[in-house]
Amino acid sequence: MRLLEEKINTDGIVISENVLKVDSFLNHQIDPKLMNEIGKEFAELFAGEGITKILTIESSGIAPAVMAGLYLDVPVLFARKRKSLTLFEDLITATVHSFTKNETNEISISKKYINEDDRILIIDDFLANGQAASALARMVEEVNAQVVGIGIVIEKSFQDGAQILKDHGYRVESLARIASLTNGEVTFKHEKMEELV
Ligand code: G4P
Repeated sequence: MRLLEEKINTDGIVISENVLKVDSFLNHQIDPKLMNEIGKEFAELFAGEGITKILTIESSGIAPAVMAGLYLDVPVLFARKRKSLTLFEDLITATVHSFTKNETNEISISKKYINEDDRILIIDDFLANGQAASALARMVEEVNAQVVGIGIVIEKSFQDGAQILKDHGYRVESLARIASLTNGEVTFKHEKMEELV
């Protein structure tokens, strides 16, 4: 998605060979117009798939997921990382280990909001090692609902998450794919261009 790549080029900060800081538009401060375009793009990519609900994880997945939900006209459910005072119904839980942050979270969603008739689109802000998306997919499948696809705002293609998810048979659509963050520079991966060469 050209607009997103331009935003990453102008406002993203390469912190290390593994980490890109995008807290001016995605992870802390949020750019609503960009989120709107991102939501539209996800909705176009997954149009006609009969999606009934979007599932994401707090906190940075929520903004793009809500905009996609608006365009697909479906509700958006987010997995919680912390116990909620009001979330006391039957819960589906999963353990997610983040290699980037070196922390483990138990995430949960209420069984009330997902059932076997659901066709779920999972959305998240970053895809690194695929731990969060895999955990969300496991939770969906635990109630025999279907994972229709996984929409990612920024995929770090030099890490193995995308491949792991594809190997599991999931359709993964990433709006920006980063091939490397070496020498303080973002290099994007454009598969279609490569195929043409
Ligand atoms: P994984 O799920 O693909 O395995 O990713 P990983 O555990 O490595 O990432 C965990 C957290 O780190 C996620 O945020 C993810 O968005 C974030 N993250 C991973 N790589 C980068 C990066 O290069 N840049 C930035 N800015 N974030 C990255 P989180 O803990 O869920 O936080 P949040 O959603 O509350 O912001």
